[in-house]
Amino acid sequence: MNHFINIKEISASKLRKIINNAKKIKLKRVKLNILDRDKDAPLKGKLLIQMFERSSLRTRLSFSIAIKQLNGEELTLRPDELHLGKGTERLSDTAKIISTFGNAFMLRTDSDSKLNEFKKHMTIPIINGLSPSSHPTQVLSDVFTIEEIKKKKISKLQICWIGDANNNVINSLIEASVKFSFKLNIGCPKKYEPSKSVLNWAKNNHGKIKIFNDSKQAATGSDVVFTDKVISMNDKVNKTKKLKDFLKFKVNKKVMNCAKKNAIFLHCLPRGSEVSNEVFLNHKQSKVWQQALNRVYVQKSILLYCFDKLR
Ligand code: CP
Ligand code: NVA
Repeated sequence: MNHFINIKEISASKLRKIINNAKKIKLKRVKLNILDRDKDAPLKGKLLIQMFERSSLRTRLSFSIAIKQLNGEELTLRPDELHLGKGTERLSDTAKIISTFGNAFMLRTDSDSKLNEFKKHMTIPIINGLSPSSHPTQVLSDVFTIEEIKKKKISKLQICWIGDANNNVINSLIEASVKFSFKLNIGCPKKYEPSKSVLNWAKNNHGKIKIFNDSKQAATGSDVVFTDKVISMNDKVNKTKKLKDFLKFKVNKKVMNCAKKNAIFLHCLPRGSEVSNEVFLNHKQSKVWQQALNRVYVQKSILLYCFDKLR
């Protein structure tokens, strides 16, 4: 079995295998309904237990659908209904029970140390469905979407991130840039540059990362422009002040015009004020809906990886 917690902990060849397998999985689903089971039923009889300590729409839907297509089942626990959530049961005992009843555990959490504690006590695979410091399932799916649209290996492309550079999604994107060896330009205010530990890890592992305190410079020549909410779910900041600090980092038409002519725009969603409606709703450039739906195929491939069933 394999855990799926952070991109940096997984080998480049395994990550590539997950992406390549997701391509095959998607091709096989063309004529099927959303709830039709895959013919080979690779996870028949398996139970995925999910728990969300923070809101979720896409991660919740995509994992629920993914496990069903693989012929398994899903059960979502509400943290406020558990003894653990009320502080009346040890995490180690909760982890043991989840491992006894379920076959895999998907956790969206408000605490990285809780995720690590669960990992320590689980005897089934645990998947990180977003933590304060990383969002690996999202970013792996985004690599898949980029390669699908651009019809090229991501290592041949220049990717740009505009916005908060010290959040979970960009941390995972930095890790992916090292594992998949792509160029990553980051445009953010000085105060919101990536954390030193993430940058140092990337530097020590041949990362190709450039940081600009100007959004147009960062976008120049890029094939893909990403952004994310200025305020993340786990942010404990003065929101009004932070939003003000990002006024010059909105992705608008002027920023997109600095990227390549055929550049695409991606956003993991949900969105706030960091992108103009004009860019977000421009169907030629903005691929956000395709990006969201692709999560089903990549979650399936991640689940198969966790169960050691990737071929
Ligand atoms: N992008 C993403 O993870 O969306 P949700 O928060 O809705 O799951
Ligand atoms: N950075 C965002 C991602 C949401 C999917 C957050 O953590 O809220």
